[in-house]
Amino acid sequence: MPANIYQDVILNGRVIARGKTHCATRYALLRPTLESVRRPFRLLDIGANLGYFSFRAAADFGATAIMIDECEELQDLCATSKPSSVVYLKRRCSVADLERLAALDHFDVVLALNVLHHFHNWRRAADIVLSLGDRVIIQTPGTDDIWADDFALAQGLIEYLSALSPRVLGEPSSHATPDGKRPMLLFDQTKSPQGEAESGIKLTTLVAFNCVYPDAIDFRKELRTCGLEQHTGCVFDGKDIHHRKVLAQLT
Ligand SMILES: C[S@@+](CC[C@H](N)C(=O)[O-])C[C@H]1O[C@@H](n2cnc3c(N)ncnc32)[C@H](O)[C@@H]1O
Repeated sequence: MPANIYQDVILNGRVIARGKTHCATRYALLRPTLESVRRPFRLLDIGANLGYFSFRAAADFGATAIMIDECEELQDLCATSKPSSVVYLKRRCSVADLERLAALDHFDVVLALNVLHHFHNWRRAADIVLSLGDRVIIQTPGTDDIWADDFALAQGLIEYLSALSPRVLGEPSSHATPDGKRPMLLFDQTKSPQGEAESGIKLTTLVAFNCVYPDAIDFRKELRTCGLEQHTGCVFDGKDIHHRKVLAQLT
């Protein structure tokens, strides 16, 4: 593991190395939102880094946690600890990828923590991310976080998001700027108190977005075996593939 890591490293449920970005504090801030779902849920973690938030949500809530990043170390962590109900899509997403994902799928909770300001077209990226889930939590550098990477882009983003009147979950300290803040913003777009219960991730999404954990090849085989390459109703819940029910409905 490289020195000066961003997130705490969780291996087999234990923190084995500390990162520089107040992970436990941030998790405590977003945890009540996870608790508010009150049923099995699906979480999308864009820019998951070392998987801290997904691993914790999966362990604490049994959530199906879908991580997107291109982080080599995350693949190693998954391969070593084999967390259940966690999925790793190894990909650096373009805005077009986010659009495609929004067309394919929808999530109960979306985390986009410290990632949107790295998109040059952050406005479009933010709009799509806000459409991807019922509860969307975005963390981004505040106006005083002057040493943040891509600070100029971040300024436009925080202004844009603040105008949408999110709930501010908290303002953890920045790791980049002494006394700088990184607000965590909740956009709660839940249509009913509980929403529709859904679980799993569509197999077609796994294949389209380069699933590397659990092993993607098995998913391709499953889809071919079932003759369901194009069937988006076939889901994986992090443990089992639920295609038989779909097949039963088809036959
Ligand atoms: C600043 S770190 C934030 C990590 C984590 N979300 C957190 O707040 O603890 C940004 C992470 O997003 C990933 N990332 C940046 N741009 C991305 C993109 N376009 N698609 C997927 N991941 C991206 C990076 O590889 C990195 O792991």
